[in-house]
Amino acid sequence: MGELDREVTPPEVYFNRRSFLRAGIVAATTAGTALAYRRLNGVELQSVERPPIPNLTRPAAPGFIAQGEALTPKDSIVNYNNFYEFTTNKDGVAAAAAGFDTTGWRVEVGGLCAKPRVLDLDDLRRVSPPEERIYRMRCVEAWSMVIPWVGYSLGKLLALVEPLGSAKYVAFQTLFDPSRMPNQKTDAVLDWPYVEGLRLDEAMHPLAILATGLYGQELPPQDGAPVRLVVPWKYGFKGIKSIVKITLVDKEPPTTWNKSAPDEYGFYANVNPNHDHPRWSQATEQRIGESGRRKTLMFNGYGDQVASLYAGMDLDVHF
Ligand code: MTE
Repeated sequence: MGELDREVTPPEVYFNRRSFLRAGIVAATTAGTALAYRRLNGVELQSVERPPIPNLTRPAAPGFIAQGEALTPKDSIVNYNNFYEFTTNKDGVAAAAAGFDTTGWRVEVGGLCAKPRVLDLDDLRRVSPPEERIYRMRCVEAWSMVIPWVGYSLGKLLALVEPLGSAKYVAFQTLFDPSRMPNQKTDAVLDWPYVEGLRLDEAMHPLAILATGLYGQELPPQDGAPVRLVVPWKYGFKGIKSIVKITLVDKEPPTTWNKSAPDEYGFYANVNPNHDHPRWSQATEQRIGESGRRKTLMFNGYGDQVASLYAGMDLDVHF
């Protein structure tokens, strides 16, 4: 999504080009076959086993479990990532982040609230029982996956700190530690730390979750260990990883990709097939592991639940 050509090229084209350049004979026509291609070309796939998360429940609420969708294989979810703190190569994040140490992690929740708190990972786990949420994930680069996250509604954590009436937005921040996140040694990649934001009513929507796992296990580093945001009706870049700070604020907070390219990435970033990225169409997407392209759904298919949050707003202005 940045300046690098491979970040803006649809994944099937990217993999085709790489196979053409590097082997010349491997006809990788979809991102799914790209995994086979990588095996052939010696880019090691990381197979990931993390500690299981006990006492998982599956909520019955509509929309919490994507209906009629095949799960994206775990191998794809943990080997095809965006995490610019480690590398801008999607297939290199798993290796680059493999040793990321989250011991002693703390998340500071504060700002405009009555009961600010600092939570360690046990505190975070105690906020609410872990739920499996099977969500579509649509990246702004026009690829998508279906991911069985483990987490709970962000609103449960926010309720604990008792937001004041003056709180209108929630700001999120990723860890800043160049000794553990190598690309933070330079500001040529992005402005660090990675920051994101939501309007408070968006953050309180039950679909927005804090995720601590996927496929029933603790999050691997490449997917945002130990805790990340998932907002399924928005483009994937809103899903800030490895969060250390959550702050209730009264004004729209800055967001990393909007600061980097304001004409290309807005604050809202709601999935919208009718609002093209200036450099590519958003009408269709490549579901990782499938051949052909799917039509992209308004609000990524979650419109029944979230469209009312944007009633009366011009979505071409507030993109
Ligand atoms: N969070 C941080 N801190 N740094 C990042 O580079 N990339 C974002 C988002 N969260 C990113 C981040 C983008 S562009 C996407 S599409 C998703 O993470 C990708 O999540 P995944 O790798 O788990 O699929």
